[in-house]
Formats: sequence, structure tokens, C-alpha cells
Amino acid sequence: MPIPFVEPFRIKMVEPIRRTTREERERILARAGLNLFKIPAEDVLIDLLTDSGTGAMSDRQWSALLRGDESYAGARSFYALQEAVRDVLGFPYFVPTHQGRGAESVLFAALVRPGQAVPNNRHFDTTQANVLALGGHPVDLVVPEAGDPAADLPFKGDMDLAALEAFIGRVGPERIPVGLTTITNNSAAGQPVSLANIRATAEVYHRHGIPFFIDACRFAENAWFIKQREPGCAAKSVREIVAEVFACADGCILSAKKDAIVNIGGLVAMRSEALYQRVSQQLILHEGFITYGGLAGRDLEAIAEGLREGIDEEYLRYRVAHTRHLGQALVAAGVPIYEPTGGHAVYIDAGRLLPHIPPAQFPGVALAAMLYLEGGVRTVEIGSLMFAHDDPAGGETHHPPLELVRLAIPRRVYTRSHLDYVAEVAGQVARHVEALRGVRITQAPALLRHFLADFEWV
Ligand SMILES: Cc1ncc(COP(=O)(O)O)c(C=O)c1O
Repeated sequence: MPIPFVEPFRIKMVEPIRRTTREERERILARAGLNLFKIPAEDVLIDLLTDSGTGAMSDRQWSALLRGDESYAGARSFYALQEAVRDVLGFPYFVPTHQGRGAESVLFAALVRPGQAVPNNRHFDTTQANVLALGGHPVDLVVPEAGDPAADLPFKGDMDLAALEAFIGRVGPERIPVGLTTITNNSAAGQPVSLANIRATAEVYHRHGIPFFIDACRFAENAWFIKQREPGCAAKSVREIVAEVFACADGCILSAKKDAIVNIGGLVAMRSEALYQRVSQQLILHEGFITYGGLAGRDLEAIAEGLREGIDEEYLRYRVAHTRHLGQALVAAGVPIYEPTGGHAVYIDAGRLLPHIPPAQFPGVALAAMLYLEGGVRTVEIGSLMFAHDDPAGGETHHPPLELVRLAIPRRVYTRSHLDYVAEVAGQVARHVEALRGVRITQAPALLRHFLADFEWV
């Protein structure tokens, strides 16, 4: 019998979580306009809204905070992080930013001009919005298998290389100031990208003279999948794979709130000194001086430590098995999920569970609301609310291929029994879906509407 995984840590400090009654949750949800982003965290029992910034720091990270040097310029903590960036990611230049979207904003402001295009396997919502805000066109070119929630394939996050080549040919490389790939592919169900595909993507971009950046929030989980699944990679260490991945790229944008396991922070790392100078100008304008970038010195110390802890193989083995456990428990409870499970989250296939609710009535939003009502579990819709957009020519609304609800797992926070509880709650909801209605928007902003929209039941 295989030995079950165990958490490779013990718990030194606990934070109580609060049960609410169904009547309380009904009132709370109505007050929040059915939008789980608007619910006080105290009213949530198990919070799977995001894995971003919600991880538990280690004793080493907490002690590193005390070493924080809060000098405005040239802080010791900046050099500690610089060493970790060079050691783990392998880039000579970097700037810290307050989080991932700060990194996107300063990099794109230095590169992207109105009318230009930025290809990616699939943009995350803030990455897409940052390109749009500069008048650019974000373009998603993930492999078609990503749209099939049942295909049991190892690297469904890969870039569609033929589509990328065709796109560059059509648009012209001079209109593409930077090309991206996102590892793992959060908006495509957290699926990993193979080393072979990253290498081939780099080759296509570079052959056309286009700088290649990696959106690298979950670089360590992606490397673990490469080690487990890619032929010829099993004998390599995760550290070696990480080095090989970044060796393909001209730089990366990174939200440290994921695989660097901190509560706040991000960075842009790069090889080009000239680009570093341009990014620094943007950084000083929008984030802070080049040696702190909108963070406290102590945050820089915690990221430096977290970058190394994030690539620990015992930790990654547990991390991916923990996520898979939730996926298996959901399937056993009769809940359809996107397969295989990714590294940081399990995605419920709301479109399949709720075929009677059309995409225009947001089945994922309805399901997320029910998971909260049933058991105080907070999740997030990744479907038409987040990604549908109107045809600029006035035609029909374009809906994304899948209506998903993401259950993102904070790092080192919840135990296996917390996850079993979540699966039971979802199973209860799944047994009574026929009566579930869709929702309609009562108000929403134009950009990133999912954060602030209000809804009512149809
Ligand atoms: C792939 C990806 N890119 C960028 C970001 C943005 O990072 P942040 O939330 O730190 O701004 C996220 C956050 O979830 C992400 O998943």
C-alpha cells in the first residue's frame, strides 16, 4: 500500500476560525450582493478564495522579519533578496514591487504602447487588465486541450506553438513588444507548462526578436510537475529545473504571494541592464525606490527566505498531493472537477454540474454562493463573470470555454480534514442542484468587474 503523504511541518501557532449558522450566512450573503469578495473574512469558515498572500510563513520567515533593514536606500534586506533572486531565479537585475500586479504594471509601462499585442498562454485577470490599460491587446494562445476538463494530459497549460507562430506572422513582430508564458497557468485551471514547451516558446519569440518574460508566480509548483511528468526530468532536482526554465527567458514577473509563501510582495527580474533602467523609472514613479519597491525591508527578508523554502522538494511533494486529495474527495462526493488537478487549486466544473444555468446567468457565481451558504466555504468563480466580454462590433457576448469555480488552497494553512469538510459541503450542494437558479448582475464596474459587482438570484 502506498504510504499516505503527511504535512512536512508541525503547527506552532493557531488562529481560531468561526462557524456561522445558515441564517447568518443568508443575511451576510445578501448584504454582500452575493459577491464573496465583499464578505468579511471572519464570517468564512474555510477560505479558498485564493492561494495568494494567504500562506502560513515558517518560523524562519518570521525570524527573518526581525532582520528587516528599513533604510530608504540600499537596505541590507534588498541585498539579501538580490542574492536569493540570483541564486534561485538566476537573473542579474531585479526590482521589488508591492505584489504581482505592480510588477506587471511597471514592466508593461516600460514596454507596451497603444495598439501593440502581448501574447501569453493565458493571461491572468490583472495581467490582461494591465495590458488593456496601456491600450495594448492581450492575446491568449493556450493549447486547445486546456478547454477539455476531462482530458488526462500532463501539460494542459502549454502554449499552442503553431498558433503563436501564426499570430506573430499575422500581426508582425514589430507590434509585439514582449511575449509571455504563465507558469502554472492559473486561468487555465492551474495546469503546468512543460520545459520543452517553455524552451520552444522562447525559441519562437527570440527568432522574431521579441523579449520573452515568464509570469512566474507558481514557478516551483510548475517545476515539481515537470520533474514528475516530463520525460527525462525525473532525475533533475527542482532547483535545477527552475534554473533551466528561467535560463530560457529574458526575465520574469512574479507575485511572491504564491510560491515564495509571503503575505505581500512581488518583483520583476531581468537580464537586460537597459530594460532595468527603464523599469526603475516606472518603479520610482509608481511603487517606490529601487531597493524597496513599495515593500518594507522585513518583507524583502521574508521573500528571500520564501524563495528557497518554496523549492523544497518535501514541501512540494506534500503541496501537490494535498491538492490532489481535495480533487479526489470532490470526485468521490459526486462533484465534477477539471482534471488532472493543478498545483494550487481544484476547479469545479460548474458548467457540467449546472447545465440548466446558461453562461449569461453565471453558473460559477451561483455555485460559489451555494458553497458559502451550505458550509461557510469561500471560493471564486473563474468563468463568464471574470472573462466574458462584449463584441466590440456590437455582436454577441463572447463567453470563455469553461465555467469553473476555483478552490484555491492557501499554503501550509489547512489540514486534510479541513479539505474533507469542503468536499462534504460540495457533495451536499451537488445533490440538490436542480433547484439552483442563476444570478444576474445589478451593478458592476467596467474593469475587473468580478471584484466589485453585485448580483441577485434570477
Ligand atoms: C498567474 C498570475 N499572475 C499574476 C497575478 C497577480 O499577482 P498579485 O495578486 O500579487 O497582484 C496572479 C495572482 O493571483 C496570478 O495568479
